[in-house]
Amino acid sequence: MAAKRRFQTVKGMHDLVGKAPAFAFVEEKVREVFSLYGYDEVRTPVVEETELFVRGVGEASEIVGKQMYTFADKRGRSLTLRPEGTAPVARAYLQNNWASGPQPVKVFYMGPYFRYERPQEGRYRQFHQIGAELIGDPGPYSDVELLVMLLRFLAELGFEDLEVGLNSVGDPDCRQRYSRRLREYLEPHGDDLGADSRRRLETNPLRILDTKAPRERELLEGAPRLRDELGGPARDHFQVVCDELGRFGVDFEIDDRLVRGLDYYTRTVFEITSTALGAQNAILGGGRYDGLIAELGGPSVPGIGFAIGQDRLVDLVLKIPGARQRLNVEDHRRRPVCVIPIGASYRRHGMELAQELRAAGIPAICEFDSLRPLKARLKQAARHDCQWVLLFGEDEEKNGEVVLRDFNDGSQETIPREGFAAAVAAKIRPDEQS
Ligand code: HAM
Repeated sequence: MAAKRRFQTVKGMHDLVGKAPAFAFVEEKVREVFSLYGYDEVRTPVVEETELFVRGVGEASEIVGKQMYTFADKRGRSLTLRPEGTAPVARAYLQNNWASGPQPVKVFYMGPYFRYERPQEGRYRQFHQIGAELIGDPGPYSDVELLVMLLRFLAELGFEDLEVGLNSVGDPDCRQRYSRRLREYLEPHGDDLGADSRRRLETNPLRILDTKAPRERELLEGAPRLRDELGGPARDHFQVVCDELGRFGVDFEIDDRLVRGLDYYTRTVFEITSTALGAQNAILGGGRYDGLIAELGGPSVPGIGFAIGQDRLVDLVLKIPGARQRLNVEDHRRRPVCVIPIGASYRRHGMELAQELRAAGIPAICEFDSLRPLKARLKQAARHDCQWVLLFGEDEEKNGEVVLRDFNDGSQETIPREGFAAAVAAKIRPDEQS
């Protein structure tokens, strides 16, 4: 008979093996820090109508053009696995009438996102984002506060050497004016442009600015600057953002070529990179989207937000020297006590003892496989990284006690069965006893 085929994760998707505690740690930090700034958590569905992203993120964007997981449901509706979180939050804002509540609306979210991209280190087809959106305030102080919160969050995770790139893509009229000028500048050099950039010259010339091709980069050195095309209000807004960020101690660089890949951006845009990440070096990106809610059929309500690539963030956090200890990643799954019932008829007792330990807040696992020799079972306990083993069999039942063994020094002692969990707690966590 032919062997049955085994399964692998779908290309570009991965199991979070061994990283779940670090993911959880980062998520706790998000809740702690973002809530200090008045943000509430929101969870939107993983699936949305395709049209939401076509209109929200923009037809000319790579995401919509090439990267969406789109499918028809049984009724033929076109649905898409969310490639990003801002359009869904804007939809939720309108659908749940958040405009009638306190303003501005501040929400954060975390979860899986999907893009059909070429997988490589740090780039996946299912990845995770941590995002925040502030909806309802057009002013520059919201931009500043959002960035200050973001940097505080990153500092609390232990990041020191981050590069903050900042730019303004202006209002739609500035962008139109600039696109025209950039097209005029680049058109005579069409032969020096790659196929992608030639296409973008027609659809979205701004995106050519973030090209990685050396020849195109050289060409762009002499190109007109977006900053010079900003109209008065956009220029003033950007000036306040830059001045105030400086005042609040944020180090940043103005990056004229930073335009971002989603079409909804207006005015302030930013990215934070880490050199430790190599080619896929953006940990996060964000910016203002003052036209998005109107584009989705709502009133003209401004917004600003960001999304962090959580997979990349966690990889970096784990690289910070001493991070594992400092972040208590190991401590997250505190080392359990291993209960070993000796003899098949003591398995139920073993289960009861483990339950009593858990009720006292002590993580416990039970080694039920009573047919194996004790030595093999102790070895399993060691592989589970247990320091303490609790043994219980016929003798212990008769004497009304349990045996507690410390793997560290091989010592063991007997403890009365009655109230043993409190005694174990006092023994293994002396500092937590009052
Ligand atoms: P984005 O720049 O497309 O922005 O994505 C934000 C971050 O998600 C990136 O900087 C990167 O760290 C991570 N990321 C994106 N694609 C992948 C991937 N295939 N694999 C791993 N990580 C990835 C947005 O999504 C906007 N919604 C951000 C935003 C919120 N703007 C305003 N509000």
